[in-house]
Amino acid sequence: MDKAQQDALKKAAGIEAAKLIENGMTAGLGTGSTVRFLVDELGRRVSEEGLRFTGVTTSRRTQEQAEGYGIHIVNIDDVDHIDVTIDGADEVDKNFNGIKGGGAALLWEKIVAINSDRIVWIVDESKVVDTIGRFPLPVEVIPFGAGHVIKKFEVKGYKPVLRMAADGKPVRTDENNYVVDLHLERIDHPQDLAQDLITTVGVVEHGLFLNMVDKVIVGDPNGPRVLTNSNK
Ligand code: A5P
Repeated sequence: MDKAQQDALKKAAGIEAAKLIENGMTAGLGTGSTVRFLVDELGRRVSEEGLRFTGVTTSRRTQEQAEGYGIHIVNIDDVDHIDVTIDGADEVDKNFNGIKGGGAALLWEKIVAINSDRIVWIVDESKVVDTIGRFPLPVEVIPFGAGHVIKKFEVKGYKPVLRMAADGKPVRTDENNYVVDLHLERIDHPQDLAQDLITTVGVVEHGLFLNMVDKVIVGDPNGPRVLTNSNK
């Protein structure tokens, strides 16, 4: 699949997901290239259909895009709940275990997700996999002592790589932390790995989102299809 085809599938999933947002709702808006299409469509509905809702965003990038369309964005602590959050994902398997954080927004994404009544992911069909882990697993790490965390990951065989920006400096998240990508190739025991990562001092959060999502809207050449998680 080339990039143009992939973008078309992402766009179709984003437009489909935008139908879930209704007047008066509080909606979580994720991050990434698929979510950009979602926010474009919500912007169209705001201007053409008079849609009015409140948004909580998972990154400054999404906040800027949404506010550019006149969408009302508030801080997560200014709402008592989020009706539905729509976000992208890097991989998802048949047990609804996924990897997120390719865009370095995993910490805010997880905080918004766990405070949401419903979670919906929008992906193109290439993201649906048998076993997660081919996509490098992002881990958000505090800069102080990050070198030691990376060494611990190396000893465990996690193949860590500190994510670098185009300017040759480490990528910084919206919380000013680093991202370390683990090149694991496959993750057979995601719960065990999640437990190991979150109990490593210096790790703030990891990109394993295990059985958190309610629905996945998959951009498919035959039209968007919906995978529903009945085990949540
Ligand atoms: C952001 O940190 C990520 O979790 C994204 O949601 C994920 O990487 C999907 O991004 P794309 O929609 O750009 O593929």
